[in-house]
Amino acid sequence: MATKSTPMPLSLQTGHDTKGNSLQTPTSESHLTPPVTPIGKSSGAEHSIPSPLSTTDTSSASLNRNILLRFTEDLEACTDGSNRRIEYGRGAWSIVYKARSTPSTILTTINTPPSSPTAKSRVYAVKAPLRKDAYPVLHSEAITLTRLNSTPGFENYVVPFHGYHTDTSALVMSAVPLALSTFIEDQADMNRKRGPSTATMFDPIQGPSAWRDLSRKLISGLQWLHKSAGIIHGDIKPHNLLLRPIVQVTDTTHLDANAEPLAFPYEPLFADFSSALDLQSNSSDEKSHTSMSAFTPPFTAPELLSLASLTSGDVAPTPASDVFSLAATLVAAATGDLLLYPGSSNMQRLAMAREGHRILEFTRCGANGARVPRNGFVERLMQPAVAKDPAQRIDTSEWVELASA
Ligand SMILES: Nc1ncnc2c1ncn2[C@@H]1O[C@H](COP(=O)(O)OP(=O)(O)O)[C@@H](O)[C@H]1O
Ligand SMILES: [Mg+2]
Repeated sequence: MATKSTPMPLSLQTGHDTKGNSLQTPTSESHLTPPVTPIGKSSGAEHSIPSPLSTTDTSSASLNRNILLRFTEDLEACTDGSNRRIEYGRGAWSIVYKARSTPSTILTTINTPPSSPTAKSRVYAVKAPLRKDAYPVLHSEAITLTRLNSTPGFENYVVPFHGYHTDTSALVMSAVPLALSTFIEDQADMNRKRGPSTATMFDPIQGPSAWRDLSRKLISGLQWLHKSAGIIHGDIKPHNLLLRPIVQVTDTTHLDANAEPLAFPYEPLFADFSSALDLQSNSSDEKSHTSMSAFTPPFTAPELLSLASLTSGDVAPTPASDVFSLAATLVAAATGDLLLYPGSSNMQRLAMAREGHRILEFTRCGANGARVPRNGFVERLMQPAVAKDPAQRIDTSEWVELASA
């Protein structure tokens, strides 16, 4: 893999810790041209729709209440054999590409020895804005990630965040290059190649224990997000969940005869907090500038898709809408169909998404409907999470209990 790269602008930050980042309150917003020209594959692209209702107001008054972790090392984009940047993915706001940290040269003077040869260069995933109105969205996401990454337990549930790279207005994260959406598509492909099997046709596509394990982990993650971190995600869907492989230690001196292979050998991590809301904030101002910055119809709770909510401008995600979106994500994981609803046109599918409380009924009409049988374990775990009235939807603590039953 080639690593010849185009240096990105140098960071001017000085005080930094060994990971190359520092905690600061934000100062002013830099509005630079996005550092990369979008290139590469588009097939993995997700399709959030930046909402016309979102505003791009991130007044410094509201931002200064918050702490921002800054990434202070220099970054070089990694490139392939054709000198093109290696892209991990892209979404409504951004392009995420592979980059390497380089020892900072800005502080080197004639009297200072060159950067220590022992300084390690690391690989990161860098999320850079794709459009002008993405700058405040990413800045606000960096503040949310700073807070999440300082909440105990984050390492189990959230993509590791290394800081906001001021000069490029980009977020620096650990690279976790497998999105749940890709995993679901790969499972569906493998399944098509294997051909139909009566033995497994009533099971989730990755097998019952893998699906249950995935569900337990994600539902626990959502409980942590709402109850420990106090954050509403706002755009939960398979494209915004990343899978970190679990390395199974094979220590031959401690062989456990009963050790079973892991049902689902990944830790699912929440990513993309560009639509997130702070549950503790009572400020309607803050809610209005971050809420519904992007939404993806099939995974969005029906109450947020009604014409009334969309036109009133009073449309904001809630813990209950996150619960719905996670349930829709888990239904897609079970059937292997990222479109969720059967139907020949987007309009037809949107109409069904607006009736999202009937998601299991609609799914059963689709090609993989047998995988969510009536009264089966998928239905029992999903039904209380898709209730029409958001107030009637299961709370994450009860949902965790149901998932572990
Ligand atoms: N830390 C990461 N490591 C590897 N790939 C990532 C990482 N973060 C995001 N991606 C990929 O990039 C895509 C877009 O990132 P996302 O944060 O969802 O941006 P947007 O807010 O524009 O939707 C994701 O769907 C995923 O495929
Ligand atoms: Mg996204």
